[in-house]
Amino acid sequence: MITRDYIEKFGVLPTPFYFYDLDVLKSTLEVLKKESVKTGFKIHYALKANPNPRILGMISSSGFGADCVSWNEIEAAIRSGFNPSEIVFAGVGKSDHEIRSAVESDIFCFNCESIPEMEVINHFAGLQNKRVRIALRINPLIEAHTHKYITTGVAESKFGINTWDIDEVLNRLPDLKNLILIGIHFHVGSQITRLSVFKSLCTRINELQEWFASRNAGLKVINVGGGLAIDYENPENFPKFGEYFSLLKKFVDLRPGQELHVEPGRSVVGQCGSLISRVLYIKNGSNTRFAILDAGMTDLIRPALYQAHHKIQNLTSTGELNRYDVVGPVCESSDTFARYIELPETKRGDLIAIRSAGAYGEAMASRYNLRDLPRVVFSDEL
Ligand code: LLP
Repeated sequence: MITRDYIEKFGVLPTPFYFYDLDVLKSTLEVLKKESVKTGFKIHYALKANPNPRILGMISSSGFGADCVSWNEIEAAIRSGFNPSEIVFAGVGKSDHEIRSAVESDIFCFNCESIPEMEVINHFAGLQNKRVRIALRINPLIEAHTHKYITTGVAESKFGINTWDIDEVLNRLPDLKNLILIGIHFHVGSQITRLSVFKSLCTRINELQEWFASRNAGLKVINVGGGLAIDYENPENFPKFGEYFSLLKKFVDLRPGQELHVEPGRSVVGQCGSLISRVLYIKNGSNTRFAILDAGMTDLIRPALYQAHHKIQNLTSTGELNRYDVVGPVCESSDTFARYIELPETKRGDLIAIRSAGAYGEAMASRYNLRDLPRVVFSDEL
């Protein structure tokens, strides 16, 4: 919650900065923990959503594992207290160096996406005289009903192994003596608002389980990936962990001894972060008024890249409502946070909060235009 108290304290701080409300994160983690204990599901937090060390520290202390997509993420996870035995390494293009280092670290599992990748992992595991655990990332061919850039589980996607190729993968496995197949992995997409999409995934998983059983391939881990949406319109709302976990519990037919793993990212950290900025100038266009902020697409790229909607609040003004295009200072027309939105009468110096920015905000910041990376302020520092 961005309370009056916080707003007064923001007043003296240089902008732009990410503000992380640690109470919100703590409550989110408590709900998630409760659901994971209730269902017995294992959580691997998807670091890509936000690898800020303090945030990682709180998540690892909650007893969750980590889903990493680069060696640097694995290192960051280990530094922040995640146990290597609870780290999975995913990604369609793992480099030799990354594979070698991950084998050395004895991580829990490599999520593999192709035979050539499995061959390279097998090679590096062999050089270290190890047998490493792998799961096959399978393309579930399910429409996620979200933005196309964050839809992953459809035909002709670079992600995952197509169902018609799994047979070939299993035929090849006996030659790859340094790999142990322990499970299957899926990820349909991100910011999935319709729970029916996850229900379709459950059906697909059950079909594939039959197929794997017919091939006598024992699977210990069923990993459903991430993707649960957050409510960008209402930043105070918690993600629907309860409904999501109940649905998985009800519709995935786990076999004896099997574990279900989930990899949430956005839903864990999205609502605890806001990008706080100041208005530099108000400029009249021909039909609109621009509120030009000192934060731009380099701080939060989601609106420019995915036409994403983040709620924007003027924390200073209580004036009459007016229409504004809220834009950043970067030399690109796409550097626009929102068009034609209502804000109270806005002027130079007003504080603006761009909400629900805890996931894929700071993590995707860049130095384009040689701008500084955004600063970070935690609620317990104020
Ligand atoms: N597991 C895998 C294999 C993934 O690829 C992802 C996200 C996750 C888990 C976590 O998904 P989440 O629970 O956060 O939806 N930058 C984009 C989102 C990219 C998501 C990539 N994969 C955005 O700002 O919307």
